[in-house]
Amino acid sequence: MMSPPSAEPPAPSTSSAGPPDDWTFRVDALTKRFATLAANDSITLRVEPGEVYGPLGPNGAGKSTLVKQTIGLLKPTSGRITLGRFDLVADPDAARQLCSYLPQVQMPIDSFHVVEAIELAGRIRGASARDVRGRTASLIDSLDLGEWKDALGHTLSGGVKRLVGFCMAIVRPGRLVILDEPTNDVDPLRRRLLWEEVRALGAHGCAVLLVTHNVLEAEKSVDRLAVIHKGRLVAEGTPSSMKAADRSQLRLQLMLTPGTATPALSPWAGPAVRVGHNLVTAIAEADASTAISWAAELTSAGVAEEYALGAMTLEDAYIRLTSHMSGDGDDDGDA
Ligand SMILES: Nc1ncnc2c1ncn2[C@@H]1O[C@H](COP(=O)(O)OP(=O)(O)OP(=O)(O)O)[C@@H](O)[C@H]1O
Ligand SMILES: [Mg+2]
Repeated sequence: MMSPPSAEPPAPSTSSAGPPDDWTFRVDALTKRFATLAANDSITLRVEPGEVYGPLGPNGAGKSTLVKQTIGLLKPTSGRITLGRFDLVADPDAARQLCSYLPQVQMPIDSFHVVEAIELAGRIRGASARDVRGRTASLIDSLDLGEWKDALGHTLSGGVKRLVGFCMAIVRPGRLVILDEPTNDVDPLRRRLLWEEVRALGAHGCAVLLVTHNVLEAEKSVDRLAVIHKGRLVAEGTPSSMKAADRSQLRLQLMLTPGTATPALSPWAGPAVRVGHNLVTAIAEADASTAISWAAELTSAGVAEEYALGAMTLEDAYIRLTSHMSGDGDDDGDA
């Protein structure tokens, strides 16, 4: 895998305190209001160079609002966003030079060929023609996009368009790389290839802000996760520390028969979360056989179509964290 040519820092125009080789990304007490809604509510976080940091959160939590302020597309109501000694809010030119950005909504590349679009993105970011050619070929190879390299943008499928957008964002990565839902519409095999490229960006020294709903896959690619809920940063830590609280427990999942009400849970079950027809609860290992008998009975009675008992996942920890706090997600836990 070829090393990506990194963006050079711009001439320091608006500079704040901090040594020239410090490329830590800092968000301090960031608040963004849309009328009465606090889409970001006093968010403070740090991302070190080489670190992949993953803000997670339900729809409307405020993740895209956070990244849009970083890149100068939205102006904060209050708070600071800095990358090393650069104030990204006061100096949007520095933000554009130092940050690479894959927006959640795909930019149109209709009249460009794939290679052309990626190379152009690299040239606009100031890389030499030679570097950009090599890096583009390497990305097309790593993400297995060879069969579309000469295709026109408007002929591409949604997933391939997304991957081309990803290549355009990282062909010449900045000190901070911001990826807002990079795997939307991407097939499982290429998602895996994409996660490897995300890790490579970290290895190359970029700070990476990775927004994704793909919690289980992200676990392998991120160093730290942050849970954002209703505009606030409510939990932060490594994937394993986020799961630690659930380690002694098992997850019992019932796939309920469509049209059935949530069954009353027994005292041995933890709080339950229902998403669609899926009901997930946590149980102690000692209660495993009781829980299986109960789930089997519900299945015979037609309340559930099937059930599964297994280890807690990061997704469970995340869903429980956010549904507890909002009181939504049918979190009735009728013990
Ligand atoms: N330009 C805007 N004007 C008014 N409200 C907005 C605007 N942009 C976002 N919002 C609101 O701010 C909140 C946060 O939106 P945001 O797009 O940041 O969520 P998100 O976490 O990225 O969600 P998703 O996972 O669905 O992408 C939402 O309630 C949204 O409706
Ligand atoms: Mg979003």
